[in-house]
Amino acid sequence: MGSRESSPATIFCFLLLFFLGGKCLASELEATQTAVLKVDASPQLARQIPDALFGIFFEEINHAGAGGIWAELVSNRGFEAGGPHTPSNIDPWSIIGDDSSIFVATDRTSCFSRNTVALRMEVLCDNCPAGGVGIYNPGFWGMNIEDGKIYNLVMYVKSLETVELTVSITSSDGLQNLASATIPVSGASNWTKLEQKLVAKGTNRTSRLQITTNNKGVVWFDQVSLMPLDTYKGHGFRTELISMMLDLKPRFLRFPGGCFVEGEWLRNAFRWRETIGPWEERPGHFGDVWHYWTDDGLGYYEFLQLSEDLGAAPIWVFNNGISHNDEVDTAAIAPFVKDVLDSLEFARGSAESTWGSVRAAMGHPEPFPVKYVAIGNEDCGKKFYRGNYLKFYNAIREAYPDIQMISNCDASSRPLDHPADLYDFHVYTDSKTLFSMKNTFDRSSRNGPKAFVSEYAVWRSDAGRGSLLASLAEAAFLTGLEKNSDVVWMASYAPLFVNNNDQTWNPDAIVFNSWQQYGTPSYWMQTLFRESSGAMIHPITITSSYSSSLAASAITWQDSENSFLRVKIVNFGSDAVSLTVSAAGLQARVNTVGSTATVLTSGNVMDENSFSNPNKVVPVKSQLLNAAEQMQVTLAPHSFTSFDLALAQSKLVAEM
Ligand code: AHR
Repeated sequence: MGSRESSPATIFCFLLLFFLGGKCLASELEATQTAVLKVDASPQLARQIPDALFGIFFEEINHAGAGGIWAELVSNRGFEAGGPHTPSNIDPWSIIGDDSSIFVATDRTSCFSRNTVALRMEVLCDNCPAGGVGIYNPGFWGMNIEDGKIYNLVMYVKSLETVELTVSITSSDGLQNLASATIPVSGASNWTKLEQKLVAKGTNRTSRLQITTNNKGVVWFDQVSLMPLDTYKGHGFRTELISMMLDLKPRFLRFPGGCFVEGEWLRNAFRWRETIGPWEERPGHFGDVWHYWTDDGLGYYEFLQLSEDLGAAPIWVFNNGISHNDEVDTAAIAPFVKDVLDSLEFARGSAESTWGSVRAAMGHPEPFPVKYVAIGNEDCGKKFYRGNYLKFYNAIREAYPDIQMISNCDASSRPLDHPADLYDFHVYTDSKTLFSMKNTFDRSSRNGPKAFVSEYAVWRSDAGRGSLLASLAEAAFLTGLEKNSDVVWMASYAPLFVNNNDQTWNPDAIVFNSWQQYGTPSYWMQTLFRESSGAMIHPITITSSYSSSLAASAITWQDSENSFLRVKIVNFGSDAVSLTVSAAGLQARVNTVGSTATVLTSGNVMDENSFSNPNKVVPVKSQLLNAAEQMQVTLAPHSFTSFDLALAQSKLVAEM
């Protein structure tokens, strides 16, 4: 999915511009307000924006990972989700057959010492029903199976007698067969790993995996996995979702949470060590903040791999011995500090080091460049935060002097009482407040740690399920971060993903189900900031009686061939604005050829995108035929516009 570069609306606008000789943008609108926006692009006033200003925040929330970007189709693949006490709930697994033909229960006979629960299936029937009896897994609200695609089934099986198992992918009622294979299992007292490729002969978005047999006897199952073969770079990520991440050109990836890192209770917090190594051996865990089980196929290693695949700097948010409800006393925090140092050795150590060798064995001998860590999440007010923080800070500084450490305590309006390279800043609020918060960092001290605005969004009624209104306030807020990027070094939106079947947290930027996805207006708004990281920012002034409804910024940036002056402006009000844009101090002439305007707006400020109308509120790009050092444009009500003025290579060359 991309912005609607050649939609009918674009073509109409282009033709309109052509015939009207360059009158532009919402030209059919009656502007009731006027404004003048002046950019001073002289080099001596320009400042470089930090290279990693805009990135993304990925939290395992809303089934963003399990049942989301992690392409595993089986949910609860190791039968551990019901807990260690057997018999346990096998949900979402279910049984094919009745009480007289089959008896299924968990026991603790697995061959994997860290996840001992397995499934014992006793087939009671001599003459089983046609099609056999067995078990099925519906995945995460149904498996998306696509015609012609190959799916790799892996499972661990034990059977004392020789049996034949049929593995099939079927529709949710079991009636449509999409792929199947029969696998003979020789009788043995030990576990066997079975692997089978299944080629789909049809498409069904809500399929299930079945394992059935007609043979009387007992069979045990464990670690049953079904993965599509075509994942991003073969790394296990859902390609279409990764491509939406790539479209944001994120400069960093903050992971794996959020509150997910903390847990309601420490015993349920994210433990990196439990999420690495062979997937079969990972115990999985129940994330008690967002209330779901994860098999931890998407573990610490995979997050590092994802950062690399996105070309984004990894930002590892680790648990600092504090959850929502319990805390480790600073006097007893030493093993937690050691655990985090081990995680850093896992990422950065040589392939010969203790933990680096584990990483190498997983297929990545080269270190992952972890340069930032956040010491906890939203824990500043907790009793042992400062004590624990200092223990982590000192140990990491000593072992890895180059790692930048992020404190949970807000230093935007007063100095910190502890050392830090950056401090975390989260804001979820209504649209008017966020719009006005574009000036928040104007007043921050220019000394001391830099701000990492790692979660921002409009929420509650103004956000709907991703409204234009929210995106406009957020865009205004981001123009303020750009201007203050001498003290704000990094920023990322609220959680990136939501599986439509589990919207625990709202708002989010990308909505998906098993086979579809779309960006909310907030997602599209962020695409207009993707060129800002590392660009030059210029001072601007806005003169208008309407200026309290406007927010803007100006940068110069370059693609592989050209330089552009980009002026972004939010019209947060309900009036159209006749805007004069003038740029002084440019080092090159403005070229109309290659100059564009991109507008994010819609008929109603609460408009949203949806699966049925994913492109209702997306940026529309058109040629800017009147592009010049001074130009007149009209801003639509409730709109966010990005003008890209193409700059000729130099005034002299262009004039020759
Ligand atoms: O983004 C959702 C939650 O909001 C995060 O887990 C937490 O950091 C914040 O409170």
